Amino acid sequence: MKSILLVCLGNICRSPMAEGAVRLALDKTGLTHIETDSAGTSGWHVGSPPDARAVKAALMRDMDISGQRARQIDAADFDRFDIIAAMDQNNYARLRELQPDGSTGRVHLFLEFAGELPVREVPDPYYGREDGFDHALDLIEQAARGLAHYIAARAKG
Ligand code: 4NP
Repeated sequence: MKSILLVCLGNICRSPMAEGAVRLALDKTGLTHIETDSAGTSGWHVGSPPDARAVKAALMRDMDISGQRARQIDAADFDRFDIIAAMDQNNYARLRELQPDGSTGRVHLFLEFAGELPVREVPDPYYGREDGFDHALDLIEQAARGLAHYIAARAKG
């Protein structure tokens, strides 16, 4: 286990926040060698920094995600990353369509790692109110901690 890719639709809201949260949780768990990245299933915002509302909400929780730039997932990502985690069911389904036969990455719903939660999707905050970003981050941070524990447990064998 050496790399994790977080995926949403635009790669400017949820997956950049998720990358920030997973990075922080891994570093706190001593898993600094695990690589993290994020991507979008769409190419709509390629090259753009994260949405200003996402940058602000993340900064309130000590994550600086302002240096990230959006990119679209490509076929090589399915071999380059061990875990490919989708923010919602639509993106999960799209990833399963795009995944090349025989590729080694495992596609998950990100909130599978969140443990006891009544929801399995991080809602898209793009068209909503600013507090939607905080709500998304609550879910994202819980899954990020769960994912770090999952990897730490596997690393111990
Ligand atoms: P994200 O949010 O998938 O969390 O990055 C969105 C960003 C942009 C759009 C939709 C969702 N858009 O329609 O441009």
